[in-house]
Amino acid sequence: MSERVAEKRDGLAGVVAGKTAISTVGKEGVGLTYRGYAIEDLAEKACFEEVAFLLIYGHLPGHNELRDFRRRLIELRRLPEPLKEMLERLPPQSIPMDVLRTGCSALGCLEPERRFNDEQKVAERLLAAFPGILLYWYHFAHHHRRIEVQSDQISLAGHFLELLHGKPPGPLHQQALDVSLILYAEHEFNASTFATRVAASTLSDFYSAIGAGIGTLRGWLHGGANEAALALLQCFTDPNEAEAGVMEALAWRQRIMGFGHRVYKISDPRCDILRPWVRRLTEAVGQQNLFAICERIEQVMWREKKLFPNVDFYSAPAYYSMGIPKSMFTPVFVLARTAGWSAHIIEQRADNKLIRPSAFYVGPGPQPFLPADARDVDVDRGVIAGHEVDFR
Ligand code: COA
Repeated sequence: MSERVAEKRDGLAGVVAGKTAISTVGKEGVGLTYRGYAIEDLAEKACFEEVAFLLIYGHLPGHNELRDFRRRLIELRRLPEPLKEMLERLPPQSIPMDVLRTGCSALGCLEPERRFNDEQKVAERLLAAFPGILLYWYHFAHHHRRIEVQSDQISLAGHFLELLHGKPPGPLHQQALDVSLILYAEHEFNASTFATRVAASTLSDFYSAIGAGIGTLRGWLHGGANEAALALLQCFTDPNEAEAGVMEALAWRQRIMGFGHRVYKISDPRCDILRPWVRRLTEAVGQQNLFAICERIEQVMWREKKLFPNVDFYSAPAYYSMGIPKSMFTPVFVLARTAGWSAHIIEQRADNKLIRPSAFYVGPGPQPFLPADARDVDVDRGVIAGHEVDFR
């Protein structure tokens, strides 16, 4: 094995694993761009549908393109009856991320990719159908109601909130959710996007690649962090209690969810955009205390560990203030990231090479093979890399 191959990086940190023209993360330390556009401009001036179009089609839509894209997304919200029947059979205690992963897979059986003329159409289908899949299951499982998965809302943000709450959302909630979807839409070679590219590189179908992304996003160290962040915030009733609690957690060397990042080293630009929205959202529902707790934890983490909050830390109180159930925070991330995943699958296919890295072998040397009755078995049943894993 050559020196270069034998050199390993834990978690592939810092390894350049391929080319992309879709986004930059942390270039010059802090920035985030989608196809050359700064995230600050997109969050302030664009809507999620424009950003999804930009990612999937490679350019910002003109007026007519945006109108047609929106029309198609509205039309594609309907769910086939067999999919609804299948959703009705999933247990109420299912994890919503598992429901989305299953719904994605089922749609792949009912409407296989070959049915569509091109891959962008599958991307549009999934973007449009995911809110309905999630909320049809949710209302059936929890309220024994079969909801309509169409709404009068033009935007995905408004549509999601209307299906969830059964009434049109106010402008603040709709706008804030729209901004958060823009922030969540794409993030270069993060774990879930890389998973979609690996699946796509084997020439698997679009749905399988998106399913790989959903399964990867589900973990606490990735998309699941926004749910874990709310669980942390809800432990405290005021900022002083939060400071004491976080200090204690750090003393026990626990991870504080929603802090730190593999690529950003100074701050997460998405967080800086979301923070003022969280202030407004919490004020609007009289939960200024929640915002004060967030700010205090942010100060403590910087003072003690030089760690800054990532987007998940502030999306948690934002979604909570909109009345979105905690278990749906990561699924909301999926609704947005489907745009980025789709762009990456399309990009991978356009210049495909099977993704198959090498491993640094740390196992035993050559072993003599003994027949079963001559083996002295001593199985270590114990530990998985020292981690206590809760699969929820
Ligand atoms: N809370 C407390 N300590 C943290 C931390 C956190 N959220 N994130 C990193 N650290 C500490 C680690 O304990 C480690 O300290 P040590 O060197 O004394 O052992 C050091 O910082 C480096 O951590 P490491 O896990 O090696 O960095 P990474 O680049 O692999 O991790 C994350 C990146 C995102 C996985 C990590 O910051 C994390 O687990 N954050 C919490 C989960 C989260 O918010 N995920 C969403 C990311 S957008």
